[in-house]
Amino acid sequence: MRDYYANHTVLVTGASSGIGREMALRLGRMGARLLLVARREDALHALAEECGSEAAVIAHDLGAPGAADALADRLRQSGERVDVLVNNAGFGFAGPFVAHAEGAVGMVDLNVRALTQLTARLLPAMVERGAGGVLNVASLGGFLPIPHFAVYGATKAYVLSFTEALHTELRGSGVHASALCPGPVATGFGGRSGLKDRYFDVGLPVGAVAEAGLKGLAANKARVVPGWSTKVAAFATRFAPSGFARRVGQKAVDVGR
Ligand SMILES: NC(=O)c1ccc[n+]([C@@H]2O[C@H](COP(=O)([O-])OP(=O)(O)OC[C@H]3O[C@@H](n4cnc5c(N)ncnc54)[C@H](OP(=O)(O)O)[C@@H]3O)[C@@H](O)[C@H]2O)c1
Repeated sequence: MRDYYANHTVLVTGASSGIGREMALRLGRMGARLLLVARREDALHALAEECGSEAAVIAHDLGAPGAADALADRLRQSGERVDVLVNNAGFGFAGPFVAHAEGAVGMVDLNVRALTQLTARLLPAMVERGAGGVLNVASLGGFLPIPHFAVYGATKAYVLSFTEALHTELRGSGVHASALCPGPVATGFGGRSGLKDRYFDVGLPVGAVAEAGLKGLAANKARVVPGWSTKVAAFATRFAPSGFARRVGQKAVDVGR
């Protein structure tokens, strides 16, 4: 996998914490040149110091309207070429839809709109060069509708479907596309989503998830599901009657709230 990333420019969104931060650290150790994107500039600067390779900090709110286009414009104006795009920034919020309907649209703006806009702006040049890759962070939650996590699950279903379709479209182009689908991971995600910390204790360590995602993209896997229990859960969603799957999904969220 080192050969796939070394001496290439990798843009990581949501690099200031959690899975994105762990990916950036691993990419730095493999000799990638990093473009680190998130809102918390201090955290990005601290990470850039730790990365051990060339790393540029781009403090940017990707949830704002037109934000991903503005970022792509900024990269083009500075002559920056992106070899690999990691669309990792995202958030969820647990609870009944009607209780947080307004904020829910923000999830679509970041998890779906910004991810799609950045891919739309950066992928064509990769295809022209016949090399590169897009790693989109989806979720186990993308495999089934989840009452009380309805919009989050729907955004991740979009990411999974979009990325797998893209993977097939890109066959033979030299450009990779993979969807990373983690189960619960102990990161800042829990606090922001309104789920208790202990809900995430059962999950894989964040470093293992980051590693699996980077390996999966280098190997051009359409879908990367890290960890056996997450694989079993994802597989089970294919066969479970849909009403039963929805009830289990809701139960899983409700015990964590
Ligand atoms: N943790 C889990 O259990 C889990 C499971 C499945 C999938 N995922 C997915 O994994 C991805 C990473 O999440 P994580 O678990 O690592 O959580 P995290 O620690 O909360 O990281 C989220 C990252 O996204 C960035 N971000 C949030 N809003 C942003 C915005 N408006 N503009 C730019 N950056 C923004 C955050 O940085 P700033 O706050 O500095 O902007 C942060 O770096 C997400 O897409 C999440 O849905 C997580």
